[in-house]
Amino acid sequence: MCGIIGIVSDKGNLKDRVIEGLKRLEYRGYDSAGIALRTEEGLLIRKKKGKVSQLEEELRNLRISSRAAVGHTRWATHGEPNDPNSHPHTDCRGEITLVHNGIIENYLELKEDLRRKGHRFRSQTDSEVVAHLLEEELKEGGSFMEALGRVVRRLEGSFALVVLNSREDALYIARQDSPLVVGLGDGENFVASDIPAFLSWTNRVVFIENGEMGKLTLSSVEIYDFQGRKRDKKPQIINWSLAQAEKGGYKHFMLKEIHEQAKAISDTVGPRIERDSNSVVMEDLPLSPRKIKDILILACGTSYHAGLVGKFYFEELAGIKTDVDYASEFRYRKPVLSPSTLVIAISQSGETADTIGALRKARSLGGKVLAVCNVVGSSITREADAVLYTHAGPEISVASTKAFTTQLSLLYLLAVYLGREVGKIERKEEARLVSGILSLPSRIERMLREEKERIREIGVDISAYTDALYLGRHLNYPIALEGALKLKEISYIHAEGYPAGEMKHGPIALIDENLPTVFIATESKVLDKVRSNMEEIKSRRGKIISLLSGEHPEIEELSDAVIKVPEVDEYLFPIINIIPLQLIAYYAADFLGHDVDQPRNLAKSVTVE
Ligand code: G6P
Repeated sequence: MCGIIGIVSDKGNLKDRVIEGLKRLEYRGYDSAGIALRTEEGLLIRKKKGKVSQLEEELRNLRISSRAAVGHTRWATHGEPNDPNSHPHTDCRGEITLVHNGIIENYLELKEDLRRKGHRFRSQTDSEVVAHLLEEELKEGGSFMEALGRVVRRLEGSFALVVLNSREDALYIARQDSPLVVGLGDGENFVASDIPAFLSWTNRVVFIENGEMGKLTLSSVEIYDFQGRKRDKKPQIINWSLAQAEKGGYKHFMLKEIHEQAKAISDTVGPRIERDSNSVVMEDLPLSPRKIKDILILACGTSYHAGLVGKFYFEELAGIKTDVDYASEFRYRKPVLSPSTLVIAISQSGETADTIGALRKARSLGGKVLAVCNVVGSSITREADAVLYTHAGPEISVASTKAFTTQLSLLYLLAVYLGREVGKIERKEEARLVSGILSLPSRIERMLREEKERIREIGVDISAYTDALYLGRHLNYPIALEGALKLKEISYIHAEGYPAGEMKHGPIALIDENLPTVFIATESKVLDKVRSNMEEIKSRRGKIISLLSGEHPEIEELSDAVIKVPEVDEYLFPIINIIPLQLIAYYAADFLGHDVDQPRNLAKSVTVE
């Protein structure tokens, strides 16, 4: 995955600016970090296993004048995370250096060939071959850009590359299937894996497409295709603010992002509601509603769990048969799609490799793809037939929170819209469903105010266990899965989500006083059944934590701890119920002293298979 950045500028201290940019990219990987600066004496390279802060510490006393620099924060794929495998990588003579995000799939054969020609390799990475290939191609003559063109045409796999050489204050870039965006400054230019890396310096951006390469200098940005033909690129203004990409007084991004959910939902829902009539207005879909015979949702991780809730929405509110598949599974199956299947690809980042692969497969089978995505201009939004954006703002914490609740809100609105368009929902019912979601943000705020302390205590309690079980039924079954995922991602406590009715077919064997169970027991047509499942746990001495709405003294009686959730319409409970579960995971992880925003082994955008 990895985060990369390059800066050409004669303002400020470039070393510090690259480190600042890398810190904003650390959500993409944090096994090791490195920097290269061009100086009058040649390239200065420092790289180190560990986080960006460790590199920063090592470079604290380094005073160096430079106008072109690159940086990298790594999530290891090829080669363990150690100093030699860290980026930047260089050619034999130390005159070319580069940072890479992606995987060069044919690196072994390229490496063999280069070895035969006398190149010496210092790392086990796939990335280093690119520096040596450039060294080799430059011997053939022509400009640096021409040599880069010849190199990228030989590479198979995925790459975002930023290359620096010892002779010019310039950065050379190339992209194939890994994200890369250029920031246009005033007398300075930037390039990075993601916009927050340079958002404090500019919000004018140019998205680099697959098959494009280019050159950045202090005063110019030129983009070409891999054949060397010039491309005319239109800059876009990004309206994310820097404050959104900073912690703003919270201890962690995750805690801040949990608290931003009420606003993120309003921002996502608001522009799609016609206030006078409380009816949904939707952007154009790739298929007109009456032509949709079925829906197929493709996603990974938390976005997949949003898809599972979406299935209830589309089937129950719009009467449209819906399947949900893991993108990583779908892409290697022989799926059956029809021209009237609406494919919905859900992705916060828009860069998840498996979701991109699944989207391409669905399109190749004739499916029409609608992307639900949070990042403007990301790969998935460019490859889909149409896009619905969630407006969660930048999500920095690796564990996804506000992206999830905005995805649910958008799927809900889409289902209401489709239900109306196909004649399953009448105007009056639509207005009721819409007013329900409009009142959700204030209820979320209230719950956070009233229940946070209790949730914190529960989180601290759970941190003492090695395992936990999350149970829910119907709409809340996916929420049990997502609640368990949050706990294991950041607290490293083993947690399983299960449909409460399935518990008796296996997990019940695990129940004793050492296994706490979190029950999602908010108002629903299956609440009585959930209560019976609670009795089954209680009679086996299991500890019970309940999410409850309304007055249910008998459930409170069965529970060791209760979190009160405000009453909302049944279909909206998943959106509010996940929030206490996110907080339980947060407080457990924080109490255990874990790095909440950057949990071990994970990365925010998984741009490899
Ligand atoms: C990674 C992240 C998860 C995320 C998943 C899918 O595993 O750590 O938080 O849910 O990727 O990401 P996407 O950007 O496609 O929603």
